[in-house]
Amino acid sequence: MSGIRPTGFLHLGNYFGALRNYVRMQDEYECYFMVADLHSLTTHPDTKELKGHVHRVLAENIASGLDPDKAALFCQSHVRETSELYLYLNMLAYKGELEKTPTFKDKVRLQPDNVNAGLLTYPVLMAADILLHRAALVPVGKDQEQHLEIARTYANRFNHRYGDVFPEPQAFNFGQALVKVPSLDGAGKMSKSENQNATLYLADSDDLIRKKVMKAKTDSGPTEPNSVKPDYIENIFLLMNLVSEKDVIEKFESDFNNCVIRYGDMKKQLAEDMVKFIAPIREKAESIRTDEKYLKEVMEKGAEKARKSANATMEKVREHMGL
Ligand code: ADP
Ligand code: NA
Repeated sequence: MSGIRPTGFLHLGNYFGALRNYVRMQDEYECYFMVADLHSLTTHPDTKELKGHVHRVLAENIASGLDPDKAALFCQSHVRETSELYLYLNMLAYKGELEKTPTFKDKVRLQPDNVNAGLLTYPVLMAADILLHRAALVPVGKDQEQHLEIARTYANRFNHRYGDVFPEPQAFNFGQALVKVPSLDGAGKMSKSENQNATLYLADSDDLIRKKVMKAKTDSGPTEPNSVKPDYIENIFLLMNLVSEKDVIEKFESDFNNCVIRYGDMKKQLAEDMVKFIAPIREKAESIRTDEKYLKEVMEKGAEKARKSANATMEKVREHMGL
């Protein structure tokens, strides 16, 4: 089980942190993937654009390889049981703990005029999304590690108080370390909301991709053989590792170690490899996005499957709680 918020265009971080694993999991596991529209209300209360964003995220999910016949693809608000479980879990969530969540502190910094209770209890809603399907594996990027830890805490608290209902959900990346896709500006991670010029979106045109990559920060190159890479150079290599051929990466590694690297050439190569990677997803998503009838059918079918699984869990939950 996992989800992505419809708060803007999807980017490479969403793809390599989350979507890629959704696609890899769909053949082997019973999967529930949602567009998290309720979560977006904590930061984006204006809903005028919401439906359009939901359609876009869904289209980008499908364009990335998700198959609605294999995984349940649905919209969070279509599964009302989420809100009921969220209510019960709120009684097991303590204010002091929630206030210490780093993402809460970040959001308070970003929107000091709208520190609503939903923002504070975001990890509770996220736990409800996951536990609602009694999910064991949650494919997410590195930035979600702490939220998963919180979800495990609530699962354990519930089980302890009312009896065993929930497995402990684990962040999942096929046994590998969780992914953090760096931003092109050398600082932090790619994100929907921060540093849009340093974020590569799945909807970016070929020229925009080239422009953004060529602006990535570099320097005049190393002066000592085999030196340690500065963060902003390490990040360019990290990005190259996601989309470029192995021998190409090895060539630039060796050029770096021998102090003959030309960052202009490296960025040109990276830009072309990014274009090759992103363009087919963008084009496919664009044609799916405008087919509203199809998207509606996909979401209805997905919600039906998700509600079935949610109902089974909620019957257990109410029974265990004596409600
Ligand atoms: P955003 O942070 O861009 O708003 P979401 O919060 O909707 O994205 O996250 C959706 C998924 O994408 C989560 O699993 C999250 O871990 C993953 N993700 C987001 N940004 C990155 C990144 N830069 N690197 C790796 N994974 C990421
Ligand atoms: Na995130």
